[in-house]
Amino acid sequence: MIEEKKPNNIFLNENGYCLVKNVFSSEEITKLRKFVLDNHHKNQDIYLSDTKDLLKSNFLSDKFFNILKETIGEELLYFLDSSTFIDKIQKKTGIFHIDARGDEEDPITTEYKVWRIGFYLQDHKNNSGGIKMIEKSHKKLLTNSIKKIYYSLKKLKKKNYKLKSFIPTFKYINIPSEAGDMIIWNGRTHHCGRFKRLKNFEKFNLHPLLDRYLPDFLVREETQDRLVIFQNWALKHSSATNYINYRINQKSDESYWSNNKTQYKNFPKDIFDKNNILIENHSYLEK
Ligand SMILES: [Fe+2]
Repeated sequence: MIEEKKPNNIFLNENGYCLVKNVFSSEEITKLRKFVLDNHHKNQDIYLSDTKDLLKSNFLSDKFFNILKETIGEELLYFLDSSTFIDKIQKKTGIFHIDARGDEEDPITTEYKVWRIGFYLQDHKNNSGGIKMIEKSHKKLLTNSIKKIYYSLKKLKKKNYKLKSFIPTFKYINIPSEAGDMIIWNGRTHHCGRFKRLKNFEKFNLHPLLDRYLPDFLVREETQDRLVIFQNWALKHSSATNYINYRINQKSDESYWSNNKTQYKNFPKDIFDKNNILIENHSYLEK
């Protein structure tokens, strides 16, 4: 019996991530690869860089916004937090981490309402270099350093965290994304940039530490420059407020936020308004 695929919103809720297939066509991907190559040096939100209207038929389309609403929630919140990424040099796998910040709550009893989306603009179904997730890890604490274990145990002692939140899950997934697909993951989901896909056992997913030491002859190559567009999206919630405050005050991204402010006149607010998407930090940006 063929198992019916769960709707993306349910899959995301249960597993902490989802892969939305065929969001953009191959023509759109060609445009987006050009957009990334032309604009990656600009340290600002992607919509502010769209001087040639390359994003109109993809990242500003009704289809895109509707998928986000159906998957994340109706009352979307955007806070001009997006980036482009080109990676030709770094071939190492990363380490498991989470994107959530300012989050002190127990992941098993509370919800986190900030999501990252990633468009990996090349094939990672048949090649290496995509993103690796741990399924259902958005309900678990990431305890991969002594410091994190120490702080988490302190919380446990205060009875803030359930013991179950400490018990890790081990189902690693090398997301089989193709150009045109969108990956959505919760800020709490444990993930790692850049997996290695094995030549002969392409569905075999290893821990990133093992990926890192695989000899080249066993793994599939990356056949194109690795181009990615990331965005952060949220729903109105205290976890989103904490995350946005963290981002805006992040010292290393000071110029990102000041560029957003000076370029805000180029933001396509009319299209966001038409789609009933709330823009957070509006007053901050217009000051
Ligand atoms: Fe990340």
